[in-house]
Order: sequence, then C-alpha cells, then structure tokens
Amino acid sequence: ALAAVSSDQYDSDALPNPEVITRLNAMFALPLERLQVIVKQIISDMKTGLERDGGAIKMLPSFVTKRPSGREHGSYLAIDFGGTNLRVCELVLNGHSSEPQLLQSKFQISDNVKTGSGAALFDFIAECVRSFFQTHHALDAHDWNSKRWQLGFTFSFPVDQISIKAGTLITWTKGFTATNVIDRDSVRLLEDAFERMNLNIEVTALVNDTTGTLISHAFQNPDTYAGVILGTGSNCAYVEKFANITKFRGPPPPPGTTEMLINMEWGGFDDAQVVIPRTKYDLLLDRNTPTPGCYTFEQLISGMYIGEIVRLVILDLARTGDVFAKATIVARSPLHKQYGFETSYMSRIERDHSFDLADVKALLEDDEFEIVGATLADRKIIKAVCEMVGLRSARLAAAGVCAVVTKMNKLNGCTVGIDGSLFEKYPHYPNRMRDAMREILGISSENISLEQAKDGSGQGAGLIAALAAEAAAAAV
Ligand code: GLC
Repeated sequence: ALAAVSSDQYDSDALPNPEVITRLNAMFALPLERLQVIVKQIISDMKTGLERDGGAIKMLPSFVTKRPSGREHGSYLAIDFGGTNLRVCELVLNGHSSEPQLLQSKFQISDNVKTGSGAALFDFIAECVRSFFQTHHALDAHDWNSKRWQLGFTFSFPVDQISIKAGTLITWTKGFTATNVIDRDSVRLLEDAFERMNLNIEVTALVNDTTGTLISHAFQNPDTYAGVILGTGSNCAYVEKFANITKFRGPPPPPGTTEMLINMEWGGFDDAQVVIPRTKYDLLLDRNTPTPGCYTFEQLISGMYIGEIVRLVILDLARTGDVFAKATIVARSPLHKQYGFETSYMSRIERDHSFDLADVKALLEDDEFEIVGATLADRKIIKAVCEMVGLRSARLAAAGVCAVVTKMNKLNGCTVGIDGSLFEKYPHYPNRMRDAMREILGISSENISLEQAKDGSGQGAGLIAALAAEAAAAAV
C-alpha cells in the first residue's frame, strides 16, 4: 500500500525532506505584513532623500525636466554602459513623420575593464564607439569625423549630477572597481578618451539607465511615470514634482519647470538592515563583495547576485548532507566558484516542469556542474531554493514599485516601464510581481501596468540628448 509521506517518513531519493523545505521557507518568505513595513519605509526614505543628501536612498536629481513630446528630431549617438554589455547606438528621430531608427553594436565588458584603471575603462568605451563607426558608417574616418556628434551617455551608477551633462561618480556598484573614477566628472573622463582617439564627439547628456528607460518608454506610452531596471543591478527612476526636491542646489531649471526625474538608487535601501529579514547567506554574499554593507537591497533582487545566494544555500545544504548526500562533485565544479551559479541557471531550473526534472539533471550533471549522482529529491530541493530566492526578489521589486506609485499619488493609474533580464527572461517574474502588488495595493494594483521596456536605455539616452538640444536651443 502507498504510505502517506510525513516529515519523518519520506523517500530520500525521490522526495525532498519537508523539514529542509520548511526551514528554508521560513528564512526566505516575505509575508504581506513585512512587505507593508518595507513599502512604508521606502516611502519615508524617499521623502528624506529629497530633503537632504546622505540617506540610504540617494534620490539623485537627473536634470531631466521634460518627457518627450514625439516631435523630437535629429541624429544622436548613445552609449549604454553599466552592466554586462556595452552598447553603442545611433538614434535618428524624425518627429511624428516616421518611426525612430536605431543602429547599434554590442560589446562584452570584461573583468579587466571593470577592475583595471579608469583610463583603460574609458579608452575601452571610446574604442567601442570607433568600432561602431567602422561597422555602421563608411570606412573613411573623415566621413564620420567631419561632423561633431552629440552623444547621450548612459552611465548606470550613482552619479551626483550638477547639470544635464556633468556629474561625479559617488561610488561604484555591481562589482566595478576601476581606479581614479570616483569623485571625478564622468563626462570629462569620457570626452578625454574621445580626444585621445580623435573622435569628434561631445557628450550632451549624462543619463542613468532608469531615466533612459523611463524616457524611451514614455516616448511610446505617455502614461509612463517610472522606469525600473531588473537586470545585473536594480534601480528605479520616477517623475517627481520639482517643488518637492527641496535639497536641489543646481542651476535653476528652465522657467515653468514643474517636474524632474529622480534617479532613486533604490539598491542602497535598507543598508542599515532594519526592515528586511536577512538570511545568513545574504550576509555572507555581502561580506564577499568589494564594498560590504553597500547596496544590500540590490543584492537581494538583482541578477548579478541572486544566483550567488542560491549557490551559497546549496553549498550549505551539501555540507549538512541535506542535498547531494549520495553525489560526487568534482573540485573544479563552478558550484565551488564565487558567482559560479549564474542567475540564468535559476531561470532554466524554474522552467523545468517535467516530472523527473530532466533538464535540471542535465544542467547539474553534464552541462555545467559535473555533479554525479544527484537524486530526484536533490533536484527538487534545488528547484525549491531557486523558487524561494526568485520569489523573494520579485516581491521586493514589487514593494519598490508600490512605494513609488504611492509616493507619486498615481494609484489611480500609470505605466511602469521595466527593462532587464529578470523581468524579461525569468519565468513567472512579472506575475510574481503583480501578485505581490495585488496583495499590497489591493484592487488599485490593476491600475498600474508593468510593461516590458526593451533596450530602453540606449534609445532613452539618445532621446535625452535630443531634449537637451531642444532646451539649449530654447535658452538662446
Ligand atoms: C546599480 C546602479 C544604478 C543602476 C542599476 C541598474 O544599482 O547603481 O545606477 O541604475 O544598477 O543598472
């Protein structure tokens, strides 16, 4: 006869030990009451951040005071730098008469670039622009160098802007550590590199990827009031009433300005670790980053980190014999390497709905990890860990969005443009966010539409350069 499965009686090869699952669940779960506390705290930190510098949420003024009208025209370059890839784009805007055209080239950012010297990092960026010209424009350098290009520079890090086209890096995030960049004007550094390479380019806008995403999505959907990144890192920009930014000390914005986009840098939320419960794995991950204690909210959400959290859990379960008790793991397995468990594997594992988790087996044994002899129970535990960490990420991101729309007073309706691999590729991620928003906001959550914003930051930087050109022309 079939025996009922209870916690002291399970088939260790096929069924995970329910006690292990329960214990992990208790660590990673974020019940509604907790989410409500988090939302409240984010709103309160947003308000503080608009009043003064130095808070956990930096609330950085972007100097973007207008959303696009659709009438923008001209041809602009854009660079999107700050995650896994660098993109160089050329955006041709024709007002209402035709769709904008976008040419682009993509380059991988190596670890050497991230962690070497600042000069080498900016030389690499300039090198990519040159390569873009060689691919998309005649080979003749005089051709593309004869005109002075205007460029929107998406530099996706916390930058303290003093104008639309100048600002200093406050701190690196996402594992970048290049030397001699912090506290210097990022635009100056880039223009110097262009000069070293004889490129005739002027940086006319310095942009965060979140503001770029907001602007490019607003170009298609004027109801867009926030831009969110859920990719390598995580952050949000939104439309704030200018009068609320009481700490604003820049040159006065154009007369009639009523709003300004704020780059929140929400990744730094709860760095003092007050409202979000942390597991020992989160704390260990943080200790092994170049800047412990910084951007801990981002660590719980974004693609650069959540695979690492899963890896740390699995290693711990292996140590206690709760997984892989009968398996062998080769010493060179990426399971033993920091960041060796990429977030894309979590997606792949969560996508496996087969009865025997056949694809999880392939991933563990052959494709990546060289773990031999994992049982079905092991695979189920690993899938459950991915679900818990992935779900927690989505619920925290949802709490962030709820805080922002509440702060804006937009519960009666608005659109949030979201870019990044988690929202785009991680199974169930958007729906998990929507479910959490429904729990937090109730029926109002249906007025908030989360939309995929694809490749927004490149096009957005071009659009912001166009808006800057319009503003400069109007000021003359
Ligand atoms: C990090 C950066 C932030 C960026 C985000 C997403 O949090 O500090 O500026 O927007 O990553 O790329």
